[in-house]
Amino acid sequence: MASKFRYASRMQTMHEEAMYMRGLFDNMTDPNMRSFGGGAPARSVLPMNYVEKYAAEVLSDAGRGFEAFQYSATFGLQDLREAVCKHLLKPTGIEAGPENVQIVSGGLETMYLVCQLFIEPGDVILTENPTFMHVTDTFKMAQAEVISCECDDEGIIPEDVERKIMQYDAKIVYTVPTFGNPTGRSLSVERRKKLAEIGSKYNVIILEDDPYRDVRYEGEVLPAIYSFDTTGNVIMACSFSKIFAPGSRLGYAVATPELIYALRDIKIATNSQPPGVSEVLLAEFFHRGYYEENMEKMTALYKEGRDAMMETMDKFFPEGFKRTTPDGGYYIWVEFPKSVSTAELKKRAEEHKFTFLSGGAWYPNAMPEENDNTARFNFTTQPVEIIKEGIELIGKIACELAEGK
Ligand SMILES: Cc1ncc(COP(=O)(O)O)c(C=O)c1O
Repeated sequence: MASKFRYASRMQTMHEEAMYMRGLFDNMTDPNMRSFGGGAPARSVLPMNYVEKYAAEVLSDAGRGFEAFQYSATFGLQDLREAVCKHLLKPTGIEAGPENVQIVSGGLETMYLVCQLFIEPGDVILTENPTFMHVTDTFKMAQAEVISCECDDEGIIPEDVERKIMQYDAKIVYTVPTFGNPTGRSLSVERRKKLAEIGSKYNVIILEDDPYRDVRYEGEVLPAIYSFDTTGNVIMACSFSKIFAPGSRLGYAVATPELIYALRDIKIATNSQPPGVSEVLLAEFFHRGYYEENMEKMTALYKEGRDAMMETMDKFFPEGFKRTTPDGGYYIWVEFPKSVSTAELKKRAEEHKFTFLSGGAWYPNAMPEENDNTARFNFTTQPVEIIKEGIELIGKIACELAEGK
């Protein structure tokens, strides 16, 4: 970065990742691009139709409107924290009260707050491999060293986590255990239990980033790692972006009251409170029963998208390709034969105004070229017809590349 300014050294370490994320967000907002790249909800299940029924009424109400527009509670609105416990945590087996919940400004903020709380420059954070690319920005901004652990179809491998905790004196283990980003895979129950035990045994923080846990189309609900924690070492990070609206910029952290107080203090020093207008609109969405109603629509729609994408991939992708079969969430992860460069595939697909994410950059400790045959495909944003058209086209280009054309 040639500049006269004396930028902080952290800007050097996060520069590359930031560049990648910028490109991704630009693609998501390009109206001409039909993207399987981002992690956006479908337009038809964004909550406009519900919110318009009550927004004017609640925002002009003397009490509720005041809560929305005035500086508000630093932990987040009390009734929203109660709604989180009632509508999201209890139904999936998590015993927690509002004292365990901090509302944050977007799901990613929990990772930022946790870094502020625990990370000194050079401290090690262990992750999956591949891992959620965006979060490594946050970790690098805290000047953490990110080391990835071995993974298989059941998720991160606890024995490797344990080995690396000892080797690097790691402070945090970061995982996206349910319908993970980018792979769509879920961590098995046994390994969830094991990670909670590892957190206790080595006194490390298990950072359970679980924004997709409620977006399930089939299969049994998996217990959170948090529910196996007996020593307060697990912090859950969740988001309302995937189940309400990314534009609300709301998420929540779940932890022991001691850690919630500490996270709250850091949030006060960061941006004081969550956005009040969003909080009120979201709390009312829960109180009026719209959350469950919209989730039903959302999961039915996304299942159709997932099924259409998997079927079309199976029909048109080159021989020898592999993909995940997620029971929920937003993504399918694909491994093409080594001869297919997804950087090239993406470039050619974009000439037809379709895009997706090449996977190489999602491996924290490898050069992107090493995993250039991998890719992440989102199936929640585009309608089924576009999914079929785009995946067929991408498949045909991939076959050409596989044949060396
Ligand atoms: C694993 C994971 N964590 C956190 C987030 C961030 O959520 P938010 O958009 O609410 O900041 C995302 C968003 O895609 C995600 O996939």
